[in-house]
Amino acid sequence: MEKKRRMVGIWDVKHMFESSIIIFFIIGALATTAVYYVNSDEQDTSLPVTPSVNVYESLNGCDLFSGKWVYDNESYPLYKEAQCPYLPGEFSCGQYGRTDFKYQQWRWQPNGCNLPRFDAKVILRRLRGKRIIFVGDSVNRNQWLSMVCMLQSVIPLGLKKMQKVANVSLFTFKAFEYNVSIDFYWAPLLVESNADHPSKHKRIDRVINIQSIEKHAKNWVDADILVFNSYLWWGTPTLKILYGSFVDSEKYNIVSNHDGYKMVLEKWSNWLATHIDHKRTQSYFMSMTATHKRGIDWGMQGDGNCLNETEPVMKDNFWESGSDLKMMRILESTLDKLKARGVNVQLVNITQLTQFRKDGHPSIHRMFYSTLKAKQLSNPKRYADCTHWCLPGVPDTWNELILAYILQRLK
Ligand SMILES: *[C@@H]1O[C@H](CO)[C@@H](O)[C@H](O)[C@H]1NC(C)=O
Ligand SMILES: *[C@@H]1O[C@H](CO)[C@@H](O)[C@H](O)[C@H]1NC(C)=O
Ligand SMILES: *[C@@H]1O[C@H](CO)[C@@H](O)[C@H](O)[C@H]1NC(C)=O
Ligand SMILES: *[C@@H]1O[C@H](CO)[C@@H](O)[C@H](O)[C@H]1NC(C)=O
Ligand SMILES: *[C@@H]1O[C@H](CO)[C@@H](O)[C@H](O)[C@H]1NC(C)=O
Repeated sequence: MEKKRRMVGIWDVKHMFESSIIIFFIIGALATTAVYYVNSDEQDTSLPVTPSVNVYESLNGCDLFSGKWVYDNESYPLYKEAQCPYLPGEFSCGQYGRTDFKYQQWRWQPNGCNLPRFDAKVILRRLRGKRIIFVGDSVNRNQWLSMVCMLQSVIPLGLKKMQKVANVSLFTFKAFEYNVSIDFYWAPLLVESNADHPSKHKRIDRVINIQSIEKHAKNWVDADILVFNSYLWWGTPTLKILYGSFVDSEKYNIVSNHDGYKMVLEKWSNWLATHIDHKRTQSYFMSMTATHKRGIDWGMQGDGNCLNETEPVMKDNFWESGSDLKMMRILESTLDKLKARGVNVQLVNITQLTQFRKDGHPSIHRMFYSTLKAKQLSNPKRYADCTHWCLPGVPDTWNELILAYILQRLK
């Protein structure tokens, strides 16, 4: 237990709260049996319909990202918080005092199709022999742990293992029976930066080395599936770009966060286009996720935030003011250019669906690394985490969506 905690516990954006922002069960004898959700406005029930060989193929052409949240306490949550031994304190909201659980019971309903019902065994069988690596920041780590929790419940003790790889920012979950590896690589800004240590990365100023991606990226080449993100750490208005060695470089430019993001994504694109075997490896990029820091966005009075929120926003196209659409456009244009070069990186557009979920964040129900000050305790809004997501919860849906893509493409 102690050991586990060390591996997945003591690290993260402990500081983002201080300063502004730093920061399954299918009834059926066969694997091919499927259960669809019923797309219905009045009913939240799910009924089994015709089994098919690859239920995921039926999703081809459907826009999975336009839709709505539907309350479904029959199918959700996909697992129980207490039954996932790998959940760290940052995401274990129930353990840290959250007593409302409705936030775990929402299903994402795309407008044009139905997502197949999640079945961990079916998915593990399909993933046999594959290695997935999530690369990015703490929100991506949040998603990685969601994926591990979604899949690990059907694997008996002794046939699975979580560990940190020595000297590398790499964490790996292995399911031995299936020969599946689900890994996380900490690289919040993708290229080398002063935020690279997986646990010691308190930095107010952001320094990156634009020329250095290989140090991280060499650890990604062996993946069958790559899932990137990079958003949170671009929240400062400017950053320092170094030219030359990270340790003693005196040459640097100060650039805006948007320019920096664009430059880094270009570097990342060039690396991806030249170092990855795209016949073997599927690549994905997760779009930015909403942070619910301004209650005024959803009609709250005063300076409230996600604290005490227990229901999603039910307004069409709701958009919270903290989401930087310009960053999204830079990402989209980068992925378009890659596509023109013959490299297909699927954008997993979860931005809108996260917008609605002001109820999904840990707020004060999580483990905090630094001791909270009296001033904070007297005003819990000040330290509420409205960036990350409780598990089980919203990231489980991101994984259902990404699995829909992965399984459509896996032969
Ligand atoms: C789901 O919610 C409905 C009404 O909210 C309740 O009557 C029912 O008992 C709940 N079912 C489960 C499995 O919790
Ligand atoms: C496990 O999967 C890897 C690819 O990730 C493959 O190289 C290896 O041969 C597989 N091992 C077994 C025992 O199937
Ligand atoms: C990890 O780093 C330490 C010190 O830098 C070194 O002594 C050790 O051999 C390294 N271990 C591995 C597995 O590379
Ligand atoms: C949040 O809920 C708690 C418990 O119901 C209450 O004491 C507190 O005042 C609420 N805080 C805000 C900011 O609404
Ligand atoms: C992703 O979603 C956002 C918000 O709904 C939208 O503005 C954007 O155009 C979408 N991007 C793509 C490539 O579908």
